[in-house]
Amino acid sequence: MAERVVLAYSGGLDTSVGIGWLKDATGKEVVALAIDVGQGGENMDDIRQRALDCGAVESLVVDAKEEFANDYLMPALKANAMYQKTYPLVSALSRPLISKHLARVAKELGASSVAHGCTGKGNDQVRFEAAIAALAPDLTSIAPVRDLALTRDKAILYAEEHNLPIRQSAKNPYSIDKNVWGRAVETGFLEDPWNAPIEDLYEYTQDPTIPREADEVTITFVAGIPTAIDGVSYTPLGIVEQLNTLAGKHGVGRIDVVEDRLIGIKSREVYEAPAAVALITAHEALEALTLERDLARYKRGVEAEWSNLVYDGLWFSGLKRSLDVFIDDTQKYVSGDIRLKLQGGRATVTGQKSAQSLYDFDLATYDTGDTFDQSLSKGFIEIWSLPSRISARRDLAGS
Ligand code: ARG
Repeated sequence: MAERVVLAYSGGLDTSVGIGWLKDATGKEVVALAIDVGQGGENMDDIRQRALDCGAVESLVVDAKEEFANDYLMPALKANAMYQKTYPLVSALSRPLISKHLARVAKELGASSVAHGCTGKGNDQVRFEAAIAALAPDLTSIAPVRDLALTRDKAILYAEEHNLPIRQSAKNPYSIDKNVWGRAVETGFLEDPWNAPIEDLYEYTQDPTIPREADEVTITFVAGIPTAIDGVSYTPLGIVEQLNTLAGKHGVGRIDVVEDRLIGIKSREVYEAPAAVALITAHEALEALTLERDLARYKRGVEAEWSNLVYDGLWFSGLKRSLDVFIDDTQKYVSGDIRLKLQGGRATVTGQKSAQSLYDFDLATYDTGDTFDQSLSKGFIEIWSLPSRISARRDLAGS
């Protein structure tokens, strides 16, 4: 039997041509694997058939939407994950999941290598290959676009010559990656960071400048995980899908940023991630209510580290695993309700309550019923400022 390679298949031009291209260049039979992470658009059965029509010996589709939401998006939410404080790691979260399935199928079918359609200039190549290295150290990774000179022009020519059933995506000037956590749009006229984004770029969000009446939603969390919207229970995937619609309608989660890629390039990125931004906003507010001050402060640092690791393709790493244990432990009391107002591109917290709240009305109030003994503050400040007073005496004596 010929050697086999399992290709992460999207149904687009590059990976469709990649099937024949890989076979020609390596002599290996290609197994196509398409993963549904909620990217929407095309029917997955059509994608499965297209791979066969393009010459795959086998074509598999995995519906991984629930797995993606449960095992990737919920940890990201608990970590309030935002790379460089702005990007909710949309693509970075799907790569380890896709890699996991690539490694599994390769093992099941006895393949010695896997393949992906990434270029040599982005983060995604790193994420696929670093994940594969961590999960199946003996598998090799092949990237036809990067390693086998499959340029876009050649891909178009190849598709024409071989009569491949691919809708000409050559006209679309953007590089787009999407899943249920959001959409990333790159290239085209966006490569000049002076060019403003146009309405045409967006698919998950409506124009936030169009006046609309605000909507209010109440999100219920249990131990850091959202479980209901306005009292109606959903799975994590259901919550994310609902909020994409509800928050997307108000243009929540549009992000336009120059970002530092791992490989050293700065790139201009436009994202839309309505559910991610609404959920992280709500989750942070609930943490403000339920986490002690030091824990909350320390966690912000852990969140930044976690986000960097995941951005950099180290999902399956020791440090990331250990940080997950810390983050999970912090979520024990992150339960309660957050009310969000959705309007004009923003999700604003307008109400917060929790049975585990550390907010004590009797301590906070300035009205009667105040239980806070203000006289204690005087002595506290005396001791708190003692190091400042002592060092100031020395500093001023010298001047
Ligand atoms: N810059 C983002 C990231 O590195 C988005 C990548 C999107 N991928 C794509 N092929 N358009 O996570």
